[in-house]
Amino acid sequence: MKLLMAANWKMHKTRADAAATLSRLVAALSGMPADREVAVFTPFTALSACADALGESPRIGLGGQNCYPAQEGAFTGECSPAMLRDVGCTWVLTGHSERRAIFGESAAFVGQKTAFALASGLKIVLCIGETLEERDSGQLAAVLERQMREGLAGVGDDMPAPVLSLAYEPVWAIGTGRVAGPKEILEAHALARAFLEKRFPAQGKAMRILYGGSVKPENAGEIIRLDNVNGVLVGGASLQAESFSRIVLA
Ligand code: 13P
Repeated sequence: MKLLMAANWKMHKTRADAAATLSRLVAALSGMPADREVAVFTPFTALSACADALGESPRIGLGGQNCYPAQEGAFTGECSPAMLRDVGCTWVLTGHSERRAIFGESAAFVGQKTAFALASGLKIVLCIGETLEERDSGQLAAVLERQMREGLAGVGDDMPAPVLSLAYEPVWAIGTGRVAGPKEILEAHALARAFLEKRFPAQGKAMRILYGGSVKPENAGEIIRLDNVNGVLVGGASLQAESFSRIVLA
């Protein structure tokens, strides 16, 4: 299984900045080991420029940060999986905690997006994670279980492993500089692995579970060597090619 090293640029970068960052990243990753795969989730407005900057580079995939579960229609402000594919994406994120918290996305709606995007031929990183309040009140396992169950409700149990990944992103570790410790990461990733193995009997063992939340060049190496950690999803430290490439090569 290749490690999936993913960048989430959130609402950052003009087209020119995005393309320049990606070009620097391609150069910095020319000697990337064969056990690594990279995906970069850019704002919609930068996707076309990024697709041009990537050219035929097969080891860096492009992704959207969101999609709407329909082919097309009267959905003002939204973007369909078909449109993402049209602009060169092979990936999409679903269920990011910022979408759940700021935009009120329910676990069931996240599930509709996940199933529809997979059926449309995109690969998925489905994000899950608890708030500090949920953790402190002993709800970690219940929250993750519900997000996985509802987030994967419409997905066939024969889904091939390379197209479906989870990202465990504890909300309290996102953008806070407070990375989860090995004990917390191991516990959550073990819960996620157990769920995947039950839900996808043939492929669940081989599906990737990424960690996200204040990942930096300084901590990435330790994190990716933990059991059941198969990559990272990086926000702030992915905005510069220099720091993200150090994470990818950690
Ligand atoms: P930071 O790496 O900035 O904490 O963000 C994590 C994240 O939300 C990635 O999706």
